[in-house]
Amino acid sequence: MNQLGDVLVTGGAGFIGCALAQSLAASARRWVALDSLHPQVHAVARRPDALPAEAELVVGDVTSASDWDALLADFRPETVIHLAAETGTAQSFSEATRHTAVNVVGTAAMLDAFTRSGHVPDRFVLSSSRAVYGEGDWRTASGEIVKAGVRSRRQLENGEWDLPGATAVPSSVATTVPAPTNVYGATKLAQEHLLDVWCGARDLSLDILRLQNVYGPGQSLTNPYTGIVSLFSRLARAGKAISVYEDGQIVRDFVYIDDVVSAFAADLRGEPAVGVRRYDVGSGVATTILELATEIARYHDAPAPVVSGEFRDGDVRFAACDILPTEIALDWAPEWSLRDGIGSLQAWIAGQAVAETA
Ligand SMILES: NC(=O)c1ccc[n+]([C@@H]2O[C@H](COP(=O)([O-])OP(=O)(O)OC[C@H]3O[C@@H](n4cnc5c(N)ncnc54)[C@H](O)[C@@H]3O)[C@@H](O)[C@H]2O)c1
Repeated sequence: MNQLGDVLVTGGAGFIGCALAQSLAASARRWVALDSLHPQVHAVARRPDALPAEAELVVGDVTSASDWDALLADFRPETVIHLAAETGTAQSFSEATRHTAVNVVGTAAMLDAFTRSGHVPDRFVLSSSRAVYGEGDWRTASGEIVKAGVRSRRQLENGEWDLPGATAVPSSVATTVPAPTNVYGATKLAQEHLLDVWCGARDLSLDILRLQNVYGPGQSLTNPYTGIVSLFSRLARAGKAISVYEDGQIVRDFVYIDDVVSAFAADLRGEPAVGVRRYDVGSGVATTILELATEIARYHDAPAPVVSGEFRDGDVRFAACDILPTEIALDWAPEWSLRDGIGSLQAWIAGQAVAETA
């Protein structure tokens, strides 16, 4: 069965890339993962065990024209799944050049490489982020929809976490105008724009999946900049109290990796269509960080989480989405509850610890 043809996955040796390969590489004629094995993500610069044998790994950098030319000299992918990215939200403020170089210039370098190679794939799928929405929309007591904008440092120092008198509204591709509040989010939105205009001018198919917070087995346990569920899990496993920012009421949508893979699979099962399609991919459940920390602490019988009152620049107060349009369009639905997902992640982390000491 080769329904997927030749597939190129940039960043294909990362968390989501390996999970996609485990589920889909066998259905491709060739599945090639182009990945730089970034040291922040990969503790050891070698092929991850999680990347199945059906996937070819090409070690290369998406910003490097020569790496692209070498790859495309004998590879003509029909589908490109673009995952390669710098993903540190807070880090993107202090390392804005690096985030922009990989996420924005790297995307442009990919497109230029296809132009040089004389071959253009039929279909692009971009792994975008909830970060493009920033604070999204809020509803005032009178029912008016307003933008919260970027919360200022002074506001946060005064402990003014929410937009006074307003309630956050789950984001939706159909109604929420993107307004990122950090550099990472701005680069993800720039990726969307670059691919949209480039694919649009060539009548190609572009699907953009805006992912909420993805977690689960396979996520880097050593990357200090991403993966809050993994980070909390390690703390609780060590019997430490988890410290949560602000008043603990920051909201996120935590979506289990298998549900993200099934969303990509559902998208790829559909026919490519000229133009751009955007989908919100999440669990559909809004969870406070305190609830998350409490659930993980409970699992490990660790001390109760501590609300620190500290904050980070660019952190969004509320990020959750309306997944109903995606469920209908892709005939897909998330299947994992947060409790089951957390349990599965803890079992995987325990297995990793055993493997390390063996
Ligand atoms: N994990 C999430 O919660 C989440 C949420 C929203 C969006 N996303 C997006 O999904 C994509 C994949 O995320 P992930 O969680 O698998 O991250 P990850 O860090 O596990 O994987 C990213 C991969 O890209 C590679 N990479 C980094 N820079 C590169 C470069 N210059 N050239 C080639 N490869 C490079 C890394 O080595 C890594 O293997 C990213 O685009 C991210 O923005 C992830």
